[in-house]
Amino acid sequence: MRIDIVSIFPEYLAPLELSLVGKAREAGIVDIRVHDLREFATDKHRSVDDTPYGGGPGMVMLPEPWGAALDAIRASVKQPPVLVIPSPSGYQFDQEAAAEVSDIEHVVIACGRYEGIDSRVAEHYAGRDDWAGVREYSIGDYVLAGGEAAALAMVEAAVRLKPGVLGNADSAVDDSFSKVDGAALEGPVFTRPPAWRNLEVPDVLLSGDHARIDAWRRQQAEERTRARRPDLPNP
Ligand code: 6GU
Repeated sequence: MRIDIVSIFPEYLAPLELSLVGKAREAGIVDIRVHDLREFATDKHRSVDDTPYGGGPGMVMLPEPWGAALDAIRASVKQPPVLVIPSPSGYQFDQEAAAEVSDIEHVVIACGRYEGIDSRVAEHYAGRDDWAGVREYSIGDYVLAGGEAAALAMVEAAVRLKPGVLGNADSAVDDSFSKVDGAALEGPVFTRPPAWRNLEVPDVLLSGDHARIDAWRRQQAEERTRARRPDLPNP
């Protein structure tokens, strides 16, 4: 899988060299390339934004640098990529969306700042037959300063679902939100020591009775999902 990320703050994406995503890159499972939008600015001041038509606060990102950057990435590959645009006005980026993105061969992520990217950019690439579609995604109901933190979250959520990234020991099948059946959230977890600051690990988990342990975990997951996320699936 290949992921190109375009941003005016390419250094913001440095954490993608670390941890799980960094290891997936070293293993050749994902090829991630970060680009500086400013290198595609067309005027001598290297402008990437301007005031919004119709007035209002903030700045809107210019379509020209985005067109130049995205066309250059497109010209570097044979197959049509999918364009992902992080936006608080996007479709919900949930576990299902993460699984869909993880199955795409080439994703280009356009990180906007300020009040967003001129809307003609999404419209233009959605209408081009040398691109495989445009998806605008929000990672939650709050506003970030730009798409970079959302891109980090989306890349990690997608990459960890690629075959060979997670070891068998921490496979994705019983993640929170996996919802094959069962409650959406996972319940509490414990490790050694059996007592810590006067708090004991629930006896059932030390019992060795795996039927009882499974039933207890299921009940805890349902109780937590009911309390914290009544909007999510729960049997
Ligand atoms: Cl994807 N971008 C921005 N700027 N804010 C957000 C977001 C994305 N998702 C939630 N808030």
